[in-house]
Amino acid sequence: MNTLDWKNLSFGYLPTKGNIRCYCRSGKWGKPEITTSEEVTLHMASTCLHYGQDVFEGLKAYRGADGHIRLFRVRENAKRMIQSGLYLQMDAPSEELFTDMVKQVVKLNEEFVPPHDSGATLYIRPLLIGASPQVGVKRADDYLFLIFVTPVGPYFKEGFKPVSVIIDRDHDRAAPLGTGHTKCGGNYAASLVSLNICHNLGYSTMLYLDAAEKKYIDECGPANFFAIRGNSYITPESHSILPSITNMSLIELAKDMGMTIERRKVEVGELATFDEAGECGTAAVITPIGKIFDPVTSQTFEYCKDGQAGKVSTALYNRLRAIQYGDETDKFGWVDII
Ligand SMILES: Cc1ncc(COP(=O)(O)O)c(C=O)c1O
Repeated sequence: MNTLDWKNLSFGYLPTKGNIRCYCRSGKWGKPEITTSEEVTLHMASTCLHYGQDVFEGLKAYRGADGHIRLFRVRENAKRMIQSGLYLQMDAPSEELFTDMVKQVVKLNEEFVPPHDSGATLYIRPLLIGASPQVGVKRADDYLFLIFVTPVGPYFKEGFKPVSVIIDRDHDRAAPLGTGHTKCGGNYAASLVSLNICHNLGYSTMLYLDAAEKKYIDECGPANFFAIRGNSYITPESHSILPSITNMSLIELAKDMGMTIERRKVEVGELATFDEAGECGTAAVITPIGKIFDPVTSQTFEYCKDGQAGKVSTALYNRLRAIQYGDETDKFGWVDII
């Protein structure tokens, strides 16, 4: 096991033993290769550089108390990359190739999977880019699929503590019939200005509304939004929302806990009616939302008056983490042991 300071890792990049790459040339995938190089050599007219043919994924490997390394729902990430690739007209790796390469690169970097009780994990970043030249706006002929890993601490240093969020009506992350449902780099570039403004105002992240009417809740920064009202788990449905694998899993767990699921358009006006609110994603699992500020009406919606996450969010968070780390039986078949 590596001797990194596991408890004080940030959510940043640290070098590991190597990464894995595979090229698809004119529709034919080659053999995956492991490399120690952290550089990518590209033609200067590659489509990823000019026309945004760039999609990625994010998942984690967890070390259990039993010492085993677990991957969480890796095939769902493969399926999502295939969907993102289809929309951006890219050749994407099959579910088998994706999963096999994830397993190989995690195995290679086994010593960088943090210890069970450290709160840290091994972050896995698969990336697919158009890697051959075009000058006109066209898809590339060749694609590079690579996966690097890096040990990370929790996304939010405060841990499972409520955060403050601000509604942003001045920027959109994605258009109603655009790329919001894909994990393409452009969506994140489009969110940077808004993120910067909200950080400068002292908020952890922003709540995006639907781009057309500014009437419905869309996403919460780079995470899905959910709310709890009574026995209901409520989460917005929209073409411009990235289908979160964490949200998908929380929905299953909420059902399993006897809750009703409401996956539908969620009006901003409903914010006042929720008992709990949260953002969810691989990075933080659940980040409880303590406050949402609406700068247009100057209203603040509060969900954690005692400074603690709500009961339901806490129960969902604990169950999901227990499955990811192997502390609870994986009755849904979500976990692959490496
Ligand atoms: C825009 C956006 N929404 C939602 C999510 C959460 O998705 P997941 O739960 O699959 O990590 C992410 C993170 O990957 C994201 O970038």
